[in-house]
Amino acid sequence: MNQNLSANELLSRMGELIEQIQYHSYRYHVLDDPIISDYEYDQLYNELVRIEKDHPDWIRLDSPTHRTGSGISEKFTKTRHPSPILSLASVFDEDGIRAWFERVTKLDDRVERANFTVEPKIDGLTVVLRYENGIFTQGSTRGDGEIGEDITSNLKTIRSLPLKVPVSPNGGQVPKLLVVRGEAFISIHDFDAMNKRLQESGEKTYQNPRNTAAGALRQLDSSLTAFRPLTILVYSIVTSEGGEVPASQSGCLDYLKLLGFPIPDYSLCNDINQAIKAYHQLESQRDRLIFEADGAVIKINQLDLAKDLGFVGKDPRGALAVKFQAREVSTTLLEIRINVGRTGVITPYAVLDPVEIGGVIVKQATLHNFDYIFDRDIRPGDRVLIKRAGDVIPYVIGPIISARSGLELPYVLPEKCPDCQQPLEHFEGEVAWYCVNASCPAQLIRNVEHFVSKGAMDIAGLGIKIVEQLVDSGLVRDVADLFALTRAQLLALEGFADKKADNLIAAIDLARRQPLSRLITALGIHGIGEVMAIDLARVYSDLDSLSKATFDELMRIPNVGPNTAQAIIDWFGRPGNRNLLIKLKSVGMWPVSSGSSQTVVPQTLTGKTFVITGTLPGFSREQAKEFIESFGGKVTDSVSKKTTYLVVGESAGSKLDKARELGVTVVDEARLRALVTETKE
Ligand code: IVH
Repeated sequence: MNQNLSANELLSRMGELIEQIQYHSYRYHVLDDPIISDYEYDQLYNELVRIEKDHPDWIRLDSPTHRTGSGISEKFTKTRHPSPILSLASVFDEDGIRAWFERVTKLDDRVERANFTVEPKIDGLTVVLRYENGIFTQGSTRGDGEIGEDITSNLKTIRSLPLKVPVSPNGGQVPKLLVVRGEAFISIHDFDAMNKRLQESGEKTYQNPRNTAAGALRQLDSSLTAFRPLTILVYSIVTSEGGEVPASQSGCLDYLKLLGFPIPDYSLCNDINQAIKAYHQLESQRDRLIFEADGAVIKINQLDLAKDLGFVGKDPRGALAVKFQAREVSTTLLEIRINVGRTGVITPYAVLDPVEIGGVIVKQATLHNFDYIFDRDIRPGDRVLIKRAGDVIPYVIGPIISARSGLELPYVLPEKCPDCQQPLEHFEGEVAWYCVNASCPAQLIRNVEHFVSKGAMDIAGLGIKIVEQLVDSGLVRDVADLFALTRAQLLALEGFADKKADNLIAAIDLARRQPLSRLITALGIHGIGEVMAIDLARVYSDLDSLSKATFDELMRIPNVGPNTAQAIIDWFGRPGNRNLLIKLKSVGMWPVSSGSSQTVVPQTLTGKTFVITGTLPGFSREQAKEFIESFGGKVTDSVSKKTTYLVVGESAGSKLDKARELGVTVVDEARLRALVTETKE
């Protein structure tokens, strides 16, 4: 595409490419926040390679093609690995595997009789772990293969990483020096759960598990790493002294497992045909893995033979990565639509020209939030790259700028809710935009769903399908309408016979007896969960008295911070919500608590001792203490063997290290709040 450029133009294009590649490489490696796809990055890179190939005399000293991508940032202490942390040559299919096998067999005929392990290629971050006399003393990133970054304290926050080996007394003798290599990652399930939580609370969601894991591992403040659900799998021994030195890869994996390391599932194959079969099997089952796998790794099992085969560059000949079919495809972004969630969060999503990714037809993909669209300048009509990994919801990686026709216009943030036409609002400190109108029809279905859910009014038999039916038929225009439903109205609906109608009416009647705290939860006020609702119902005797609460009064309640206090006041201040209260009262859904701390709080934390460290997101230190004590727990200042839980917030100090040393369970604020309800039921 540069064929028609003059030498001068080409030279300036080269400068432009170098600048762009350097910028995007910095965003990827140092900031862990890439704004273009790997595919696009490769295109820029390859374009530069082509120019340099045609004009070797132009090559600049600072050209990114003449630097082995190190990814070492200045932030961490550097550490030299005991032996180079090698990479792997990769192929893309069965033919590639056979070609490799023939090549290495020619070099050494023992390969003919060798067996192989086949392991998943985990798409995470390589980490190198050092154990001295069984104690985890240092952990580092791969870096450039020779020198990595010391991320010991971050790695220590990973629960699956053994701090001491053998973990169990039956795990054999303590190795004098053991250096192992593994992959740190965030499981697909944990990633989705984390994003869902973030989205509901209007915070920024993460792009994909790998970048999130990378960001977490390279946090300068390890208490922040502790909040990310990182895990680890260990797959090879770099150095082993004074312990077992297994002769085979399968022996290594078994030994690592015996010591207490989590290892990947692997197949031991008698010959190359079996290995190829295992590779196909792994690919067909990749969605069942808990992590993203981008391929399989085939390794010659006999380690002495693998070693004798030597290297090509930095790649050992004895092992091979076989990539799975990429789950990135490009398609046209037809339209950006927005979705209104229960809490009113507005989320943009992409409507796509349907495209197949790994056997699944994808028609929509998430765009995370509006910042995501603007950062990447994603425009309706763009050719975009989509990624589907495991069961993670497909997401738009970004636009393919080079495919633009020039007619695509920048996306404009919507000003009004598409369903109720009310203006959207933005809360300070959150990335999300909200529709705050509680009678917004788009929110209604999700509102009703939340209202009847287990943690709220717990109305049995009111699944999503029936909720939709009730809303679509016009019988339910707000949650109060549920309590006015009649048997005759239900019988008129498709699929309702006598028994189903009677059961539903009975279940709704039963809900009238739910306590005030459940009704408060059910209203879905921004930031009010089950625990806080219990606190509010202790102080206020009904929704009327809660609706009259002042900001200062609310702030005196243990768990309530300024945002929550304001959210409560705002909620009760909206005319639609005031009407809802009148309706709830008129249909008899009006629980009254004894108020003013009369209600007995379940003493679920009795016998448990807590220590608090760092800044918690929603509690002051004093509030957290009161909260724990109100449930019967005890709060002390220093961590000891008697401590049951260490509650950590941002910038946790030495207490965290102490707790880890003593094996004290570490929890964050969300987990603390969950503990209260978990133990109760
Ligand atoms: S073996 C010389 N096994 O894939 C041995 N690597 O370059 C090289 N990876 O980033 C590594 N899962 O960290 C091996 N089961 C596995 C792996 C694996 C993921 C990563 C590795 C590196 C890349 C290969």
